[in-house]
Formats: sequence, C-alpha cells, structure tokens
Amino acid sequence: MCGIVGYIGYKNAKEILLEGLKSLSYRGYDSSGIALKEESSLLIVKSEGKLENLEAKIASFSIIPTLVTDLTSTNFNREVNARGQELLDKSTCGIGHTRWATHGKPNFTNSHPHQDEVGNIAIVHNGIIKNFFDLKAKLEDEGFVFKTETDTEVVAQLIYKFKLQGKDLKSALREALKLVDGSYAIAVIAKDDDKIYLAKNQSPLIIGIGDKENYIASDSSTVVQYTNKILRLKDKQIAVLSANDVIVEDLEGNSVAIQIIHSTQTASIMEKGQYKHFLEKEIHEQPTVISKMIADAFVDETINEFKQLDFSFKDISKITFVACGSAYHAALVGKNIIEHWAKIPVDVAIASEFCSKPALVSKTDLVIGISQSGETADTLAAIKNAKSANAKIMAITNKNDSAIFDLCKPNNYVTPAGIEVSVASTKAFTSQVLAMYLLAMKICQDKKLNFDFQSNIYELRALPIIIGECIERENQYKSQMIKYSNYRDFLFLSRGVNYPIALEGALKLKELSYIHATGYPSGEMKHGPIAILDSTVPVLNIAISGKTEFEQTIYKKTLSNAEEAKARMSPSIVIACDSDENVENLFDEVIRIPDVSQIFSPIVATIPLQFLAYFIAENLGKDVDQPRNLAKSVTVE
Ligand code: AGP
Repeated sequence: MCGIVGYIGYKNAKEILLEGLKSLSYRGYDSSGIALKEESSLLIVKSEGKLENLEAKIASFSIIPTLVTDLTSTNFNREVNARGQELLDKSTCGIGHTRWATHGKPNFTNSHPHQDEVGNIAIVHNGIIKNFFDLKAKLEDEGFVFKTETDTEVVAQLIYKFKLQGKDLKSALREALKLVDGSYAIAVIAKDDDKIYLAKNQSPLIIGIGDKENYIASDSSTVVQYTNKILRLKDKQIAVLSANDVIVEDLEGNSVAIQIIHSTQTASIMEKGQYKHFLEKEIHEQPTVISKMIADAFVDETINEFKQLDFSFKDISKITFVACGSAYHAALVGKNIIEHWAKIPVDVAIASEFCSKPALVSKTDLVIGISQSGETADTLAAIKNAKSANAKIMAITNKNDSAIFDLCKPNNYVTPAGIEVSVASTKAFTSQVLAMYLLAMKICQDKKLNFDFQSNIYELRALPIIIGECIERENQYKSQMIKYSNYRDFLFLSRGVNYPIALEGALKLKELSYIHATGYPSGEMKHGPIAILDSTVPVLNIAISGKTEFEQTIYKKTLSNAEEAKARMSPSIVIACDSDENVENLFDEVIRIPDVSQIFSPIVATIPLQFLAYFIAENLGKDVDQPRNLAKSVTVE
C-alpha cells in the first residue's frame, strides 16, 4: 500500500523523510519520492523502484543536477542546481511517498510527489479517487494540462484551479475535496505557503506531535521513534501543520477538537535485532505474544477480557466474522471453537464477499471484523455495512489507532502482537487465533454454560511453552523443508479445527515463495483436486490425534484421505504430534510438533507451516519481508 510521510520543524527534513519512507517500505511499493520546501522554492526528487534508487539520486544530485531529478532529462541549470542542493541540505519542511500503483504504471512519471501544471504545489496521496476520469476530463476541457496517468494529479490541478480563483491553499484544498469521490490521505506543500496541509478520508493518516516540530505518517510505527503523542485524523477532515501548531477542521471549515492518544508502540520493534528478516523475528516473538495474551486474560478461572463491550452475548443469536487473508483463516478457527464450546451459530465471510450482497443481519446479530492493521478497506466496508443493517459490531485488531478500532469503539479487543513489519502475517495471525478461544470462553461465561474453565485454561497456559519448543526445532524443520523448494504446486489438507490452518499454510507458501499452493478440506480432496495429484505435487497433511472419540474419528479420516493422495504418487508430508506412532510408515516426511490436544493444536501446527514458507522463500532468494505485488495493509477495495 502507498505510504505517506511529512515533517515540519527545525531538523533536516530530507533525513527524516527518508527514514520515514524506509519504515513504511514494509507496506509494499514500486516507486518513491520526496518534496522539500525552503523559502519560496520547492525541490522534488523521485525515482522508480526501491528506496535505494531515490537515495542514490539525492546523493548524486550535486553531480548530475536536475530539478525534478529525472536523470534522463537535459534540464540542467547551474543556479537551479545550487538552489536544489541548498534545499536538500537546509529544508526543514517536506513530504514523501512510497507508491503502490493503483492508477498508472509503476514508473518515474507516475511516482509521487505530483504537481499542478505550474509547479507551485507538491502533493502526495494514498487512496483511490473513484471519479478522477470525469474530473480530469472537465479540467482538460477547461484547458488544464496533465502530465501523468495518476488520479492524484487531478487533485493538484483542482487546487491550482481554485487558487486561480483567489482562494488560499486551505480553501482551495477543501473545495477540491468536495468534488472528489473516493479514499485519500493527502499531504500538500506549496512554494508560497509555509505550512503542510493534510486531508483524510478512509485511508489512514496520523500526526506525531513533537516539541516545535510535527511529523506525518500513514501509520504510527513511523513516528514512535520521535514522539508517542499521536493524532489520528478522521474521515473528511483537513489539518494545517506548522512547527508549533496543528489545526483540524471538517470539510465545511468548522474547527474540530483534536484528540491526542499516547501510542504504546516502541521504536525498537522496527529493528531486526539478531534476525536476518523481520519474518523470522516475528515468528520467534510468538511465544511471548501468546504468553502475554493468556497472562492478561484470566483472573482465577474467569475471563478478564471483553469487559468494555456495550452488549451481552446472552442477547446475540448469531455471530458473523468478516475478514481477509490470514485474518479470515483465524475467523474460520473461531467458527469451529465458538460453535463447539459456546453453541452460537457462526458465519464467516470474506469481507469483500460480505459486501457483494445486502447484509442479512439485524439487531440480534454480532458482526466481528478481524484485522491486524485495522485499516483493510474490505473489512472496514463490511463492518460499516453490518452497522447500517443494525447489527452489533466488534473488532479484533492489532492497532488501537486504526479506522476499524475507531469504528467499533467500545467493542474492541486489541491483540498485543505489536507492530508486524513483515508483510506475511505470523504473530498477528496466531494472536488472532488465540483471541478466538478467549472469545469463546467469554461467551460461555456470559451465557453461564456448563464449560470446564479449569482444564481448558490449564491447556491454554501450556501453549506458550509448546510453541516455544516448536520454534526451537527450527533447524530440524529447515533440513526437512528446503528439499521441497523446487516444486511448482502444493496441496495442503486437513479437517475440522485444522482445516483453516491448511488454508493458512497454503497462503504463507504462496505469498512468500510464489509457488502455487491450495488449502483444502481433506474430505473434499477426492471431489476434484485429486485429479491434479502426481509425483510433482506434494501434499502436506495436518493430522493431530484426539482425546475424544469424535476427535479420533476426525484424525483417522484425515489419515485415510492422506493415503488416497499418497496412492497418486504425490510426495506425502504430515504435521503430527511427537507421540503419534501411526504416521512413520504412512508418509515420506513427518514434521513433528510437541504433543498438544487437537482442539488447541491450530496455533502450534501453524509454526512449522510458517517455517516451511520462510525457508523455501529464502532458499529461492525471494524478498521475504516484502514479497512482490503485496502490501501489508490493503487500504483499497
Ligand atoms: C497475511 O499473510 C497476508 N499478508 C494478508 O492476507 C492479510 O492477512 C490480509 O491482507 C488482512 O490484513 P489485516 O489483518 O490487516 O486486515
């Protein structure tokens, strides 16, 4: 997803902007740029590709000078260059952008910042202007000249148009946004103005409040190294920043009281430490995260979470989860656990599909959005649809300064996973899965169901140790897993509570190694997918033996489905517990996890699947923390 940064204060803006863009790079991008202002001059430096290319352009500016630093241009002018170098060294006000292309190819011309046609303003934007074709056509009919394919340039030209009518920059921006239909997080600076202007609608934009300085970013992880005083702009708000002041207004020009929160995030989380990748680091953080969640969750044998909800589960007839990607898989585990323990019917909808039909929910329905970032546009839209249909809404998210958190107040549960930098979700996913168990126990408690809290809390409390033991097998797993690096197709199978983990394992392998992988219910494999099986398609099965007769039946059927696949010459892999003696002769590869009961096994079974995707991707030389085409937070529908 695109990332925005900005700074106004007394320090060198270029350094702060570049640092900020690096901290946002995990969101995924294909070009980047900065705009600096000093007195009545603007300097724009931008580049296609990775941030290293932008830094190289900046470093080479004094040797190969151009104002808009397209190194192919012949626009050489010694005075301009000297002024440009001065801005790089002296400017204390600027904005920056990492672009994840939505409209217009990922190239130099379409990279941000963009300008109006006379080059008086510089603008960066995250979001999608849905009506930009119409707006652009009208402006072209009025004689305005465009240089790029982007929707962002339309906003720059609209500002220019309203400034030509005599409006100041704030009013011109406000009038421009009244014509815009779509999502935006915008920052604007101008040659003839010494402030930074912001506007926000649906795409996240935060302000870090400093001492005689203010910071701008798409998410708080970028500014926590400077300040933990965070102001989150809300939809349809405009802000005007100077070094000492922040003014916030709505689109009608009414001033809005600002609400500063103190972020709990720490800058150290943005460091890899002794790990080669953030992904490896975040896999290793899981025992600590799970341990913290469980430690905070109980007082004696009662649930100590979800106390601030403005409803009781006694009044809920059905729960519907809405989520995307890994969060959707966590919701599927939730369905299994909540229906099994709390006897409430649970639907699980892919958020974008939930929005593809009228929401069939009402006031006794609870719709729960699960989202690590709290900014996923599909999930945000689904929760809004549910709210409009009078359902109660709730969120399970990793960010207490997010749009979904704000929308669902006070019905939030915030996982303590902390910032997850790697695009592939690991600690956020397992903490979402654990939240499902806690939620199920809360419902049992609210509804005074006959539920064995004592033994289940005991098993939960053992999980961090079991997960830690699993992670310690990293080197053993690596030796078992990298031999599968060169297959082009994978099938992941399981049943019951681990079927969602088969889906998650397939997603991890796909998004990290770019190998085609599909997750399927074991019992469904013979209804079609079995046709693809041969010696070139490994099948990975999750088969966890059970304590009850019901669980044992699931386990035995999973094994028999695995044998059906093996009979088609597929390389057969199984994730099974240490004490399981049935699997050694059934599979080509047995990946062992510490003994855990079937119902609590999803989190544990996820760990080797995370390692499988990680080791294969690393072995194939893929960009482990920022896989191609992916964004950490998908803030467009
Ligand atoms: C997970 O590995 C993926 N990167 C992706 O599927 C992610 O889970 C999905 O985009 C949802 O993100 P969210 O939890 O921030 O809403």
